[in-house]
Amino acid sequence: MINELRLLNFKAFRSVAIPLAPVTLLTGLNSSGKSTVLQALALLRQSFEAGMTHPTDETMDPEHFGGLMLDGDLVELGTGQDVLHEDFELVDLTPDPLISVGYRMTDGRSHEWTVQYAAEQDVLPAKGFHAADEPFPEVERHDAPLFFAGFQYLKADRIVPATTYPRSHREAVGRGFLGPRGEHTINFLRHYGQGIVPEGPLRHPEARAHTLLDQVVAWMQELCPGVNLEAHEIPGVDSVRLSYGFGGTTGLDSSRRRRPTNVGFGLTYALPIVVACLSATRDSLILLENPEAHLHPRGQSRMAALVAAAAASGAQLIVETHSDHVLNGLRIAVKNKRIAASDTAVHFFRRGGGDKAEIVTPRMGDDGMLSEWPDGFFDEWESSLDQLLD
Ligand SMILES: Nc1ncnc2c1ncn2[C@@H]1O[C@H](COP(=O)(O)OP(=O)(O)OP(=O)(O)O)[C@@H](O)[C@H]1O
Ligand SMILES: [Mg+2]
Repeated sequence: MINELRLLNFKAFRSVAIPLAPVTLLTGLNSSGKSTVLQALALLRQSFEAGMTHPTDETMDPEHFGGLMLDGDLVELGTGQDVLHEDFELVDLTPDPLISVGYRMTDGRSHEWTVQYAAEQDVLPAKGFHAADEPFPEVERHDAPLFFAGFQYLKADRIVPATTYPRSHREAVGRGFLGPRGEHTINFLRHYGQGIVPEGPLRHPEARAHTLLDQVVAWMQELCPGVNLEAHEIPGVDSVRLSYGFGGTTGLDSSRRRRPTNVGFGLTYALPIVVACLSATRDSLILLENPEAHLHPRGQSRMAALVAAAAASGAQLIVETHSDHVLNGLRIAVKNKRIAASDTAVHFFRRGGGDKAEIVTPRMGDDGMLSEWPDGFFDEWESSLDQLLD
């Protein structure tokens, strides 16, 4: 597991080390650097997939091999001038600024990818790609969950109800990737829906069976009681279809399937989150932006329970959220011993003096209580109540 992410001169951060746990919540004001954290990890993954992070043979000079690919399938960060922190720090007396993304793992290994600044380039060339404590070629190719198959990155902007969804064998089946917008979720479900969710915290007690599809349905029923869903292939076309049923008991049409466009927005929007969590394995790294989007408050809290269950099954999840229900859902999971307090981290991002990104990290106790509530950290309820009662 990655237990610390380090960034230097990367977008909102000059120099920062962010502790990560099996479940990490990134909370705080808009434009305070939360997505930047997820983007840094996605940038490494994207550069890895392009073959740029790890030398593939020993003749390659690890000091000057590869680079970071700023524009790709996962993130489109622009060019060097977009990414370089505007108030950058010079290190080691180098004349030009460096940008670095690195992490430390629980087993103590740490890796860092440092690139040179090039204003107009969307691939920043390596300054020195190295394992901080192990010189190449000892660096294993698959040295972190970041580079394993179970990687998912679901951004805030996800699939919406539609009549069809893409059917990419390569993405959904080959890579097991749901897509940054969850666009391959339906095809993934169509292909892997009969797979078994292993015994453990992810299994929903009310599910009809242990298959992924039945477990997805059970968790979706937490959002909308009685709902069920199916993923269909459309013969002869490179698309798949999703349909919902509502198990009504009155009228002739109670068993009628409904297309997503005739069903509420929130179900389809949350589906990729549910599928990502339920298909998590021990090696998964799952990055989620706003799993609460378009869900009613209880549904938001249940998404936190699902996130906690995925982490308790061994996956690592980093979740950006604006929802106090997600925060409280995680606190309740801790209190109910679904996950250990020490397996959670909650960061509050805010703007410090001089507009600098600043992170406060309240600690969670075994009872789900937090050690501090900095100003602006989910205190709007109290603030509104004070005004109402005044
Ligand atoms: N090159 C840069 N140098 C300095 N700051 C930058 C740079 N690029 C982006 N930023 C800052 O990073 C912030 C954007 O951060 P980010 O997208 O991570 O926000 P966020 O916390 O996820 O917000 P939201 O809650 O709205 O999703 C903005 O304040 C922006 O000014
Ligand atoms: Mg964001």
